[in-house]
Amino acid sequence: MCGIIGVTGTGPVAPRLIDSLKRLEYRGYDSAGVAAVVDGRVERRRAKGKIRELEAVLAAEPLEATVGIGHTRWATHGAPTTENAHPHKAGRVTLVHNGIIENFAELKAELAAHGRTFESQTDTEVVAHLLDAELATTNDPLVAFKRVLDRLTGAYALAVLIDGEDGLILGARRGSPLVVGWGEGEMYLGSDALAVGPFTTSISYLEEGDYVALDRSGARMFDVSGAAVERPVVQVSGSSAMVEKGEYRHFMLKEIHEQPDSVQRTLSEYLDFVNGTARPTAVDFAAIDRIQVVACGTAFYAAQIGRYAFERLAGLPCDVEIASEFRYRRPAVSKGTLAVAVSQSGETADTLASLTWCKAQGLQTAALVNVHSSSMAREAAVLWPTHAGPEIGVASTKAFTAQVAALLALAVSAGVQRGRIDAAQEAELIQALFESPRLIAEAMQMDEALREVANDLSKATDVLFLGRGPMFPLAMEGALKLKEISYIHAEGYAAGELKHGPIALIDEFTPTVALAPLDDVYEKTASNLQEVAARGGPVIMIAPADAPEPHGAGIRRVDAPACHPLVAPLVHAVAIQLLAYYTAVQKGTDVDQPRNLAKSVTVE
Ligand code: F6R
Repeated sequence: MCGIIGVTGTGPVAPRLIDSLKRLEYRGYDSAGVAAVVDGRVERRRAKGKIRELEAVLAAEPLEATVGIGHTRWATHGAPTTENAHPHKAGRVTLVHNGIIENFAELKAELAAHGRTFESQTDTEVVAHLLDAELATTNDPLVAFKRVLDRLTGAYALAVLIDGEDGLILGARRGSPLVVGWGEGEMYLGSDALAVGPFTTSISYLEEGDYVALDRSGARMFDVSGAAVERPVVQVSGSSAMVEKGEYRHFMLKEIHEQPDSVQRTLSEYLDFVNGTARPTAVDFAAIDRIQVVACGTAFYAAQIGRYAFERLAGLPCDVEIASEFRYRRPAVSKGTLAVAVSQSGETADTLASLTWCKAQGLQTAALVNVHSSSMAREAAVLWPTHAGPEIGVASTKAFTAQVAALLALAVSAGVQRGRIDAAQEAELIQALFESPRLIAEAMQMDEALREVANDLSKATDVLFLGRGPMFPLAMEGALKLKEISYIHAEGYAAGELKHGPIALIDEFTPTVALAPLDDVYEKTASNLQEVAARGGPVIMIAPADAPEPHGAGIRRVDAPACHPLVAPLVHAVAIQLLAYYTAVQKGTDVDQPRNLAKSVTVE
């Protein structure tokens, strides 16, 4: 989750880029760089470390220019070095990028075969080379840019300068956000409203797949098909843009849409995408014989999803317990146990008390938290951060998927350390995780279909969510989301448990939402759905389009992106979140601040 700024204006650009980058440091701060057009040619200044290091470089070698781009980096591909810092340059092209280009290895091989050499280990540099190569075949930068965008797989926000194109900045987004800022005789591009906050409060949010050409007089915008489009200009408050809803009606919806970014950022903490390996962690998984997770609410469900991965991939027994029960149960613990607290806030009273108790028993402790200075972060011996960024909606969404992503990545690490998965399996699993931000972005395309389903759910008084394997805790999370923001009673069940009681609830007024990725238990889930349909219950099945049709009248399908089973909880999470969101909107409840709830539960 890197930060991006671009300015095409009339005043000195370097100080303005620096001003903006300082506001973006929260997105990443292992290196930073700027590029600006000096006498028709683009020059760069880059530095490892924080923005003040870049300022020192600029003080020694100033950039006298009025058009430029800047970047603050959170390393995904390649170590945090000056060579890997953005902007990257190839021939006439200089650009900055936020996201992951998934097919960079094959593109790099193709470019290398044509004699191109690379100075960094990043995925980004291939985009600069591709565009430079295209510019040799056409005089129209937009035509060349579109050709390049069509070749990229993955998530990106890009800002581009071209030698000889003074005043022009190209931008594009897919998966990662990008905004256009409107000024007087000046235009701006930023990774969020905060980036352009120092210069303007008039913003257009680019939509998925959009690309744009900015010059001092305005912006030409295009959608993914290449058709010219206009995106509305909205007013935001620059100083507080970080905690504003921007283009979204609610924080919850904004945070759902931030998930490709927040998951990617979290994964890059635990995985080395360049080498396709898990990064070493402070815990030696080969030296422990059990994991005990304590958590509450949504974090408890995230941990349960993690449990499937730890046991399956690492052969590591993993217990997950609600912290308010654990802390008073006087559990029997053994010395080889790693106690893990999972929490967005890091302050939840029961989780913190359970962690403290485990520590007092002499157990090794870790805290998987989103607030890195929280009490749990300080209490535990090991800090496992998630990088969801501030979550304002009381109903947790991006913090949940960040927790799931971190736990899946850690389970891969554990599997490697314990000799349960070999190098080929490790590479396959990391590739699956690597693709998950893009698939989460694709999952947003279920929006329309889910909105229609939500219209029906809003009329129900009870809803069942079903799943098997890791989809079982996700079903419980789906039920929790629906309960807490729409106030509709909902339960999540293991699909196989249905006929042991809950099937008695089924009637024509009780919808069942089934989470059914194409995994090794798909057929079993499908037959449970037939049982529901046969009893007249309306069924909504969220499954990939190529999943075989379960026989049964009334089964309504919502097509989810096909994905590796490991990342199915991340992809399907989008569906249960949007379903709850639109149901609540339909009911007119207070989505971001549902009744009786608080974001951080610091009392018992
Ligand atoms: C539900 C939700 C809560 C929290 C729970 C734990 O949407 O947000 O269930 O997950 O209160 O909070 P943290 O993760 O801060 O410990």
